[in-house]
Amino acid sequence: MICNQKRSRRPRGPLCKILRVADLKVLLSRERIAARVADLGEQISRDFHGESIIFVGVLKGAAIFLSDLSRHVALDASFDFIGVSSYGARPALAQDPSGYATWDSTGEVRLTKDVDQPMTEKNVILVEDILDTGLTLNFIRKHLLAHRPKTLKIAALLDKPSRRKQPIQGDYVGFTIPDAFVVGYGLDYAEHYRNLPDICVISNP
Ligand code: IMP
Ligand code: MG
Repeated sequence: MICNQKRSRRPRGPLCKILRVADLKVLLSRERIAARVADLGEQISRDFHGESIIFVGVLKGAAIFLSDLSRHVALDASFDFIGVSSYGARPALAQDPSGYATWDSTGEVRLTKDVDQPMTEKNVILVEDILDTGLTLNFIRKHLLAHRPKTLKIAALLDKPSRRKQPIQGDYVGFTIPDAFVVGYGLDYAEHYRNLPDICVISNP
């Protein structure tokens, strides 16, 4: 199968047959992601040894990261999810090849789904796919701090520090990446490509 060539920088697997892969380039392979996610899980297990934690995933991009990360955490844990949307439309990638140059002109973030359980006096790990401008996580962080958790940490699979508009730092960061629009492993372009097993740079959907 052409998509399964070893060392190929093209995405591999059955999705190659149904997606136009010409403009997808693998940035982080599934093997690298799996190894790093396992490291992060072990680090969390050590840091919170003997304690319980709540993973709060940011919908929808963090779903895959949360499910893999949590299975490397040997602690009593529960899951919750939070949803947000940002005002300001993301431009079509065709007009804006970087995909997000004019993203979020207003910087306003709105809650679309709140957490289901009280976070008071709990160890909360906010799980996000990618730290970009920082607007989303700053908003969610403030929202969750109002619950008065015992601790609030941020786990982000990816970090693009060069794009930051508001200062925020991840406590458990998988990879620092350059300023490129990426898809796969939960990350989407217009709701597509979330199920790609590798993280790919997309230049023309
Ligand atoms: P922030 O508020 O700018 O930090 O935005 C974070 C959100 O923007 C992430 O949760 C993603 O949903 C989205 N995002 C930022 N960069 C990318 C990217 O390269 N690919 C896909 N989604 C992205
Ligand atoms: Mg997201």
